[in-house]
Amino acid sequence: MSQPKRDGIGNILLVAVSVCLVCSILVSGAAVALKPVQKANRVLDQKKNVLIAAGVLAEGATEDAEGRGVEALFADFETRVVDLRTGRYADDVDAQSFDQLRTASDPSRSTALATGEDPATIKRLEHYGLVYLKRDASGAIETAVLPIRGYGLWGTLYGYLALDSDLETVAGIGFYQHQETPGLGGEVENPRWKAQWAGVSLFGDDGTPAVALVKGKAPEGSGARSHQVDALSGATMTSRGVQNLVNFWVGERGYGTWLENMRGGRV
Ligand SMILES: Cc1cc2nc3c(=O)[nH]c(=O)nc-3n(C[C@H](O)[C@H](O)[C@H](O)COP(=O)(O)O)c2cc1C
Repeated sequence: MSQPKRDGIGNILLVAVSVCLVCSILVSGAAVALKPVQKANRVLDQKKNVLIAAGVLAEGATEDAEGRGVEALFADFETRVVDLRTGRYADDVDAQSFDQLRTASDPSRSTALATGEDPATIKRLEHYGLVYLKRDASGAIETAVLPIRGYGLWGTLYGYLALDSDLETVAGIGFYQHQETPGLGGEVENPRWKAQWAGVSLFGDDGTPAVALVKGKAPEGSGARSHQVDALSGATMTSRGVQNLVNFWVGERGYGTWLENMRGGRV
């Protein structure tokens, strides 16, 4: 009796299809199984970025000097959702699951910005924004951290701005994602440049955002200097982008109304 040929075309196809099938099951199984891990890592990363901007965790560190890790340090922060249109808390929105960036691209949960009202070049502004609040023992705000974003030269920079207890002085800043050139606009990550932000006064005498990135600051002690940060050398466009986005997010279209309400004790 004649045996079927082992290296016949039918067998080759059968083996090839079986190998493909097994591999695709393995790859899609791994993708599904790893999804929750990836999501947990993304959430942990954002917590870390908030802590770094607030100055409670050093860049590149996984715990503070007392050995407290990201989760423990972040537990000192309260996460709230603010209605950016009214400057009041939106307690009907679950802060833990709220994805601010996702709502920014949803027409039912964001507003299109015309060119003249969009200095940060974000195109759409979400209705709700997150805030991270650290309180002292008496319950008063010690630090407030706000998500910020805006266009530099090559793309959108994403970061956090931390404010002191007066809600008008910068405590720290950090950008966790951007497309600026390393050594030029990418110097937004430089710890020495970032260190200058602590103590910068956000608002001018008329109460409007007044942060300025400049080449050559005004003399020490002058009013203008309190709002100034050194521009990044060789990166005028990135510097202008950072100036615009910071002023936008602390301004009336961003968190400005909430900041005013907080300072006036209305929320
Ligand atoms: C390859 C390349 C990358 C650049 N990357 C940046 C950048 O990330 N941010 C920026 O503002 N300017 C960048 N520039 C420089 C700008 O094109 C422009 O020359 C600069 O804004 C002038 O800045 P200055 O007046 O501070 O020298 C880059 C230029 C080149 C050629």
